[in-house]
Amino acid sequence: KQIPEVEQLLQKMTIEEKIGQLNLLTPGGGVATGEVVSENVGAKIKTGQVGGLFGVAGPDRVRKAQELAVKESRLGIPLLIGSDVIHGYKTTYPIPLGLSSTWDMDLVRQAAQMAAREATADGINWNFSPMVDIARDPRWGRISEGAGEDPYLGSKIAEAMVKGYQGEDLAAVHTMLACVKHLALYGAAEAGRDYHTVDMGKIKMFNQYLPPYKAAIDAGAASVMSSFNDVDGVPATGNKWLLTDLLRTQWGFDGFVVSDYTSLNEMVPHGLGDLQAVSALALKAGLDMDMVGEGFLTTLKKSLDEGKITAEDITKACRRVLEAKYISGLFEDPYKYLDSKRPKNDILTKENRALARKLATRSFVLLKNHNNLLPLEKKGKIALIGPLADSRENMLGTWAPTGDFNLAVTILEGFNNVASNADIKYAKGANISDDVDFAKNVNALGRRITMDERSPEAMLKEAVDLAKTSDVVVAVVGEATEMSGESSSRTDISIPDIQKKLIKALVETGKPVALVLMSGRPLTIPEEFDLPVSILQVWHPGVEAGNAIADVVFGDYNPSGKLTATWPVNVGQIPIYHSTKVTGRPAPESGEFQKFRSNYLDAPNAPLLPFGYGLSYTTFDYSNLRLNKKEIHQGEAISATVTITNTGNYDGEEVVQLYLRDVVRSITPPKRQLKGFQKVMLKKGERKEVTITLSPDDLKFYNAQLEFVSEPGEFEVFVGTNSDAELSETFTLK
Ligand code: IFM
Repeated sequence: KQIPEVEQLLQKMTIEEKIGQLNLLTPGGGVATGEVVSENVGAKIKTGQVGGLFGVAGPDRVRKAQELAVKESRLGIPLLIGSDVIHGYKTTYPIPLGLSSTWDMDLVRQAAQMAAREATADGINWNFSPMVDIARDPRWGRISEGAGEDPYLGSKIAEAMVKGYQGEDLAAVHTMLACVKHLALYGAAEAGRDYHTVDMGKIKMFNQYLPPYKAAIDAGAASVMSSFNDVDGVPATGNKWLLTDLLRTQWGFDGFVVSDYTSLNEMVPHGLGDLQAVSALALKAGLDMDMVGEGFLTTLKKSLDEGKITAEDITKACRRVLEAKYISGLFEDPYKYLDSKRPKNDILTKENRALARKLATRSFVLLKNHNNLLPLEKKGKIALIGPLADSRENMLGTWAPTGDFNLAVTILEGFNNVASNADIKYAKGANISDDVDFAKNVNALGRRITMDERSPEAMLKEAVDLAKTSDVVVAVVGEATEMSGESSSRTDISIPDIQKKLIKALVETGKPVALVLMSGRPLTIPEEFDLPVSILQVWHPGVEAGNAIADVVFGDYNPSGKLTATWPVNVGQIPIYHSTKVTGRPAPESGEFQKFRSNYLDAPNAPLLPFGYGLSYTTFDYSNLRLNKKEIHQGEAISATVTITNTGNYDGEEVVQLYLRDVVRSITPPKRQLKGFQKVMLKKGERKEVTITLSPDDLKFYNAQLEFVSEPGEFEVFVGTNSDAELSETFTLK
């Protein structure tokens, strides 16, 4: 359906003005994630050469930019104002990998809604989120920015985030356009190295990697960002199959597509031709807006004159950008997001901080609880040790460009807030890493790892002495913020050596030790896991970090988070994920090595911690799994019911997970796949029946012809506390 107002405007526009709408610039001053920053932005806006800006925020600043467009350009077309609001605007909440560990879709939606309310209060109307790239390689730094390895969970989260950002009415002042990114397969970069090539067959692509993008589109996402990588040999930004045949023709997407930061220009080093050639190629492929690189701005007119593209190609892209402005209500009132009272009323409010604290507590995953050390009592002598224990600058996590780490609560502060009667003493114990080159690379954005000048020996001694005189030790260790995120890939994803040494020395004091582990990715921690320690994984928790960690460590909230990406034993097991294929020569169930089977000589196939894993301070017993039918026909649903009992000493929440195995089918099935889950609260001693229903679509997959089908035969259902769930039942699809 065409929008009459947009069509009338298009009639009035020159070809240069239309090309101008396809240009997205950033005036700098924010975080630039490429080598180029836009120049002469004001002059370009006035001459109708800009469709949108990002990296500009606050009603006053945005108003100035918007006035240039509305009052000084010939047609007065307002600007889209974009931003990366990845995990909260100013009220930063856990990094997306942490948020996904809540397995709570209502909370995820609330988080996105809060982010939209805050960002729009600061004049932003377009968000470069959600990032829905499936990631099965924790070396890739941006695994931190997504929902982990699983297409089913990833799809639910994509949907919840789009709905949270966009609400029911995109023209409302509290909602913003979502931008699904990065289409496509960006998380499958070879060897986990950012921006690296991707080579993937269509069966894997359709069944494992594409579903979350599609779910976001189905939820109504207004825009899409193309990825840096190539897909089947063609960079995503100029890939017609991806941006038109799949996205628009097959999926019915009718919003606009923006490139990633200079990803259009990067088609030149990718080897697709010069800037004019790749710009024409990308426009024809279905790219509508060019981020920062100005390839469209500087070459499309020439390509038009030379007959390489048509005026209709340009008009089509321009129409989509204008339609987005129209549905945001910007034509009606270009200043609608610019109420100077809103920042004070809507940003960093008490309620928002309370939600951020709640989100963080729900994102933590209890990996191990040696001798049930946790929760700690709020008394006695507590040694709080570690390079992250009193570090404000590492609490927000990666890609929080709109947040302010100075507002974050440190763990030391949180402990004192929550356990004010305890005697809490702090020692740093070690730097994040003593590898100077590594620290320099991590600090390439100019911050976050500060090296203590004292000698490593002196720091260690101070910590050990403190531990010896304390009742219990809490060591906060792991990754600094910039050790994950964009362009922060690692080949060794263990805890840095200097911190490992600290952990061992603390354990050797004989005092009970709890590790609070902070990271933006799954880590390899087999040695630490074998030590007599408890481990609470807290990701990077956001602005309320310290309070939330204290809430869980001292038992005000019983942890319920579950891993959304598998934790390997070592990097040699990567890529690693639960829905792996069985192969024709499966490894023995016992885990024992067997010659001529699909296994390793030097490590198990099994990960250290499976997908879906996470403990609680209480225990849950699963029993009596039953299905409501033993046979179903195509198009019918089937339900599994399980009895779950809280058998421990605390009230607690549990994520009941359902996995499905399609026993025989025309293409090799995964061992098992997540197909349902439910988060339930059980009081101490309480028993509940939990029912999860599988829809007809849950039995379907993309076959060799890429048709979405279910095939008759046997299915096995597993229900339990993680992807190794043991209770199982079978049914037959007729
Ligand atoms: O949105 C981001 C993207 O995820 C990575 N490159 C830069 C974009 C805009 O900041």
